[in-house]
Amino acid sequence: MGNEKKKIILTADRPTGRLHLGHYVGSLKRRVELQNSGEYDQIYIMVADDQALTDNADNPGKIRENIVNVVLDYLSVGIDPEKTTICVQSQLPALHALTFYYLNMVTTARLSRNPTVKAEIQMRGFADEGLPAGFFTYPVSQAADITAFDATVVPVGEDQLPMLEQTREIVEKFNRIYGNTLVLPEAMIPENETQRRLPGVDGKAKMSKSLGNCIYLSDSAKTVKQQVNGKMFTDPQHLKIEDPGHTEGNVVFTYLDAFCREEHFAKFLPDYANLDEMKDHYRRGGLGDGTCKKFLISILEETLSPIRESRAKWEKDIDAVYDIMAAGNEKAREVTGNTLARVEKAMRIDYFADRSVVKEWEELLKKQHQ
Ligand code: TRP
Repeated sequence: MGNEKKKIILTADRPTGRLHLGHYVGSLKRRVELQNSGEYDQIYIMVADDQALTDNADNPGKIRENIVNVVLDYLSVGIDPEKTTICVQSQLPALHALTFYYLNMVTTARLSRNPTVKAEIQMRGFADEGLPAGFFTYPVSQAADITAFDATVVPVGEDQLPMLEQTREIVEKFNRIYGNTLVLPEAMIPENETQRRLPGVDGKAKMSKSLGNCIYLSDSAKTVKQQVNGKMFTDPQHLKIEDPGHTEGNVVFTYLDAFCREEHFAKFLPDYANLDEMKDHYRRGGLGDGTCKKFLISILEETLSPIRESRAKWEKDIDAVYDIMAAGNEKAREVTGNTLARVEKAMRIDYFADRSVVKEWEELLKKQHQ
């Protein structure tokens, strides 16, 4: 077996748009921390363009555009190409081959039960229009992504847990049939519950481009302010400042749960020592929505302004971004190619790895003639 004792991280994102705050708190922030912890032997981040094509087959231009957007988002949040290999899924043919073999490790019944795929089929209207086979089987391709890098840890948002479960089943089945070959990965999700599933600014379950309820990492300060002030509803019963208010189901407070730390009070809102005190005041009455939103905007800006500045720098050097990706692809091709060779050997389809099969076939023919 390959990298058995190493600690290896692989994550990926679909390049269907720029990355937003949901991506940031759900996974990106953690990836940067893990990268800088020095505890991992290898770290890979992949732009999952092939996966994005499974439900955007008619719109390849969108995927092409967003490859650079996603990589710029990576670089601007602090993914460091010296420490993390950034690569592009379509440039790694071993992933396609692995997917094809792993398709034999799952049943269509099992794929139909994948809760994330089920929800996405509904969301995209595939239930009526017809379901692309590539989309239906993308969890298998995701298993190929993860295992090709021998990933031990996969930091993802909560919605990806079914993918990890499916991957683990594929690994276990493959290893049972062909001998111990693939590494069993583990998911890593945020500890903070609100960070696991940040709602859109309108309070809807998820940030989504089509709903217009996202705050993108590359949004201007003006847009961030507009999204918070214009789209975040608070408590409909909290009409006057003196009225008692609800903090549960109040998006402003949901976001504060995800982003606010104690130090933010000393810095931006010294009337309170912590979020509990602030919430108490809101519930009692006497704390206005404007103050809460202003506080939230200050906190978001503290996170977003360095990201925005860094992005502006990288945007001026797309040549360098291209080189980072090209170098990453080369390294990833080697790593994933090695895994494919190991898989082919385990499956005994490595006929042409050397000439040893010639002897084997000669022996066979001799026996057949006896
Ligand atoms: N499905 C993931 C998402 O939508 C993206 C992805 C593709 C991924 N391949 C992966 C995530 C491998 C983790 C590991 O966000």
